[in-house]
Amino acid sequence: MFLGRMMELDFSSVTSLSLAGTVTALLFIYMMRKTSDKYPPGPFAFPIIGNSPQILLSGSLAKFIESNHQKFGNVFTFVSGGSKRVVVSGYDAIYRLLVKNADRTSTRSTASMTPTIKIAAQKTPGVFWAPYPLWKDLRSFSISSMRDEGMGKSTLEPQLIEELELFIAHFIEPNLNNPIEMTLGLSQATNNMISQMLFHRRFDYNDEAFKTRIESINESISIGLKISMIGNLPFGKYFIKSAIERDDYISHNILLPALQHLIDEHKDDLDEHNPRDIMDKYLLQSQKEQNEGKANHSFSEENARVLALQMYIAGTETTATALRWALLFMCLHPDVKVKVQKEISEHLGSRTVSCKDRVSMPYTDAVLLETLRKASVAGVGLPHTLEKEMVIDGVTIPAGADLMINLDSVLFDEEVFEDPQSFKPERFLTGDITLKKQRTIPFGIGRRACLGEGLAKMEFFLFFVTFLQRYDIKIPEGLTVTDEPKKYSFIVNTPNPYEIIFSRR
Ligand code: HEM
Repeated sequence: MFLGRMMELDFSSVTSLSLAGTVTALLFIYMMRKTSDKYPPGPFAFPIIGNSPQILLSGSLAKFIESNHQKFGNVFTFVSGGSKRVVVSGYDAIYRLLVKNADRTSTRSTASMTPTIKIAAQKTPGVFWAPYPLWKDLRSFSISSMRDEGMGKSTLEPQLIEELELFIAHFIEPNLNNPIEMTLGLSQATNNMISQMLFHRRFDYNDEAFKTRIESINESISIGLKISMIGNLPFGKYFIKSAIERDDYISHNILLPALQHLIDEHKDDLDEHNPRDIMDKYLLQSQKEQNEGKANHSFSEENARVLALQMYIAGTETTATALRWALLFMCLHPDVKVKVQKEISEHLGSRTVSCKDRVSMPYTDAVLLETLRKASVAGVGLPHTLEKEMVIDGVTIPAGADLMINLDSVLFDEEVFEDPQSFKPERFLTGDITLKKQRTIPFGIGRRACLGEGLAKMEFFLFFVTFLQRYDIKIPEGLTVTDEPKKYSFIVNTPNPYEIIFSRR
C-alpha cells in the first residue's frame, strides 16, 4: 500500500503498461547482472525495486539502516533507486574513511539521484555536488565569507537576536497561553538568517511569497526520497512523474527565480570597495577570475544561484527541526526544563543571552548536546563516493561505491552512550565527557562536514535559551506527543507535528 502511494502511478494507459512489462523483464536481467558485482553483502534486494519495500515497511530509512547494521555489521550494501549504496557504521570506520582517507572520500556521490539532478550537478554543482578538488575553492570561499559575516563570532549575535525578537513578537507574544505550531515560523526565522548573510535581506513573516518558498523547501526535502528511490531506475521517472515535475517546478519556478532576483539586485549596485554580504563577495570574485581569464566555473553566475539554493535547503529545515526537538524534549521532560530555567535565572537573570555564556552554563550545554545527539537531525548523512577500493572491518568496498555514512550508529552507540534511546542530558556531565563530546557528530566529520555548523549552533543556543528564559512551555492538555520521529521522515529526522503553549514566566 505504502509503495503504491509512494509511486503515484501515473501511467493509466495500456501502452504504458505494456512498456512497463518489457522494462520489467529488461530490468530483471540488469539487476541480476549488477548483483554479481563485488559489493559487501546486505539484505535481499528485489529485482528493480531493490530494498524499497523493506525501507518503506521499516517506517524510516534510519530504522531500516539500523536493523541491517545489527544483522550485517559495520559495512553492508542495500539497493535503492536502482543503485547500490554501501552503508558504513561505527565511529572508527567512519573516521578512517572521512578523515584518514579524506582524499578517497571527499567527492559526493550523485549515484542515487535522478538523471536530471545528475546532469544539473555536473553543470552547476554549487558547493554541494562539486567534486573534490574543484569543490575546495567554493567551500573555502563559503566558509570564510560566512565567518566574515559573523558565523561563530559575537559580531553575528545582534542580527540573530533581532531575528529572534521579531519571531517572538510575531508568533509568541500574540498567542500567549494558546497552542501554536512552530514548523513554518522557525523555518522562516532560520532562513532569514541565511538570507541576511547571503543577501543582506530578511523577509517579513507575513510575506506570502516568503511562506511559499519555505513550504517549498520543506516539500522539496520530503519529495527527495521518493525521487531518489524510484526516479533513478531506468524508466523510473515515468512512475513518479508528478513528484519530479513538482520538484522541478519548486526549483525552477519558485526558488531559483527568487534567488536570481536578489542576485540581479546585487549586480546592479555592486560596490567593489564595500561588499555587503556573501553574494557581493561572490560576484566580485567572479569578476576577478573573469578579468584574470581564469576558466573557473565554481564562480559562474549560474553557480551563484545554486550555491544560495543549497545553503537555503541545507540550513533552513535542519536548524529549525533541531529547535523543534529541543522544545519537545523540554515539554516531555519537565524536570530537565526546570533545571535549565534555574541555570538561566542564576547565570543570566533577565539580561540578553550571548553565545559566550554557554561555557558558564554546563547544564544547558549538556541539554543541547543531548538534543542534537538524540534528535539526530541528519542521521543518515549525505552521500560520498569512494574513489579507490578500501577494506573496512575486513570487508572490501569497491572503488566507485556510493557511501552512506551512518551517523546514527555513532550517536546511538551504546558503548559510549548508555541507554542511547533515552533523553539524558546528565550523561554529558559525568564519566568520560571528552569522549562523549567527540562522538556527538550530528554535523558529520572530515572535509565535507557541515558548512553551517557554526551558524546552526549559535541559532540553536540563542533561541533555546531566550525561549526558556522568558517563557514556560508545555504541550496542550489532551494532546499525546512522543519522542518518536515522524514516520517516513527520511532525510531530515523530524518530530511529529505538535502544538506548544508559551506562557510568561
Ligand atoms: C542542526 C542543523 C544542521 C545539521 C544537523 C546539519 C548536518 C549536516 C550534515 C550531516 C552534513 C553532511 C556531512 C557529510 O557529507 O559528511 C551537512 C552538510 C552541509 N550543510 Fe549542514 N547541518 C545543519 C545546518 C546547516 C546550516 C545552518 C547550513 C547553512 C548554510 C548548512 C549547510 C550545509 C552545506 C552547504 C553542506 C554541504 C557541505 C559540502 O558538501 O561541502 N547546514 N550538514
